[in-house]
Amino acid sequence: MKIALVTGAGRGIGRETARRLTEHGMTVFAGVREESHAPEGTRPVLLDVTDPAMAANAAKLIGEEFGRLDVLVNNAAICGDAGVTPAEATAEHMRATYEVNVFGVVTVTHAMIPLLRASGTGRIVNMTTRLASVGLTVAGDDFNAGWPMLAYNSSKSALNALTVLYANELRESGITVNAVDPGLCATDMTGGTGNRTAAEGAAAVVRMATLGADGSTGTFISEERPLPW
Ligand SMILES: NC(=O)c1ccc[n+]([C@@H]2O[C@H](COP(=O)([O-])OP(=O)(O)OC[C@H]3O[C@@H](n4cnc5c(N)ncnc54)[C@H](OP(=O)(O)O)[C@@H]3O)[C@@H](O)[C@H]2O)c1
Repeated sequence: MKIALVTGAGRGIGRETARRLTEHGMTVFAGVREESHAPEGTRPVLLDVTDPAMAANAAKLIGEEFGRLDVLVNNAAICGDAGVTPAEATAEHMRATYEVNVFGVVTVTHAMIPLLRASGTGRIVNMTTRLASVGLTVAGDDFNAGWPMLAYNSSKSALNALTVLYANELRESGITVNAVDPGLCATDMTGGTGNRTAAEGAAAVVRMATLGADGSTGTFISEERPLPW
């Protein structure tokens, strides 16, 4: 049986991802900040991704019981500058956003790498967005032009860069690392805006979390297609 950890699993796409991974027969640790928010059938683990002690504790808990981790979904994130233009955004917007979306991912990933190496077929999925694509933004993509968020978008561009660097090093340990855009999903983060449900967004994530032995690594994809960096 595969062992998975999903961060931010109490609501939105993370919750749906955790739920769907249990349907794939996995034992799923739901990283939550409030235990009662973990979806049914999952194992709640208290995890604020900005807290290295909590990440270490989660790794200890999973390690002591299973000795490995097969799937890590870095889903927890915030978007603190919706409606704020680049000229209005401050370093504080950047700091708060990077704390969760970038440093939080590094905190959790760093804590879990030994367990992922022990899996032999570790799968890391980093939740990104097409807004992270510098290529699309440079090309004047309409969608990206409509959401010009300095902190959120650039934090996910940084996450994409981390994805490639982790992928390159961890390939030898059989670990794939991919950045997945779930599409525009109606969740709390988007204020309910979106042409997809959280469950539909989770589908692409689950696909990359359940890649076979020859699975791709170091990619940036949506459900439909690879996206330009
Ligand atoms: N919705 C979209 O259209 C969309 C599009 C592209 C990418 N994404 C990405 O998909 C992921 C999920 O988004 P969503 O729309 O489901 O967002 P959401 O509904 O706002 O949920 C965010 C989740 O992150 C958790 N979280 C925030 N800060 C945390 C922290 N410091 N430690 C631990 N957990 C924390 C929240 O936990 P609490 O419940 O404890 O606050 C919540 O579970 C994010 O990475 C987002 O950037 C979303």
